[in-house]
Amino acid sequence: MQWRRGGYTVTDDRAALDTEVVFGFLSESYWAKGILRETCLRSLENSLCFMLLQGDRQVGFCRAVTDRATFAYLADVFVLPEHRGQGLGKWLVACVLAHPELQGLRRWMLATSDAHGLYSSQGFNPVRDPAVFMEIVRPYKP
Ligand SMILES: CC(C)(COP(=O)(O)OP(=O)(O)OC[C@H]1O[C@@H](n2cnc3c(N)ncnc32)[C@H](O)[C@@H]1OP(=O)(O)O)[C@@H](O)C(=O)NCCC(=O)NCCS
Repeated sequence: MQWRRGGYTVTDDRAALDTEVVFGFLSESYWAKGILRETCLRSLENSLCFMLLQGDRQVGFCRAVTDRATFAYLADVFVLPEHRGQGLGKWLVACVLAHPELQGLRRWMLATSDAHGLYSSQGFNPVRDPAVFMEIVRPYKP
């Protein structure tokens, strides 16, 4: 799949994935700081990845961890700083939600510390009943 807007493209074509850009950003991000390169690469291999490109240069990313039938978890959303503030983050998330292999899922989930507004604009809501969810959390050790 491919979506175009101005000089930007969102694609799920893995040939467009620049693992150095993704690992470089994520390994310094607040949520994945300290992630090992091999862990990061394995996560990319096993996800439906969405690359935001300017020309053929990757400037943003996110991925869906999904069974492509019932459930998807949206993860690792970023737009490089010099490309922010022009609607690309919202568009990237909108493209993920529009992907034909991700239609009719019973549940989408994500976690965010401070970007709730980005996701609520695309239809995400706070968890209605947090009591039904449980988790195991093992932060990376930087
Ligand atoms: C979050 C991020 C992807 C947004 O990208 P962007 O291209 O600048 O986003 P957009 O221009 O589409 O605007 C995002 C909208 O969400 C809102 N928003 C809410 N929380 C936000 C946050 N923490 N950061 C950025 N935007 C936020 C913005 O105000 C904007 O709303 P508006 O259009 O009504 O003004 C980008 O700032 C980024 O990569 N940040 C660092 C990584 C990160 O925090 N990722 C999210 C992890 S959950």
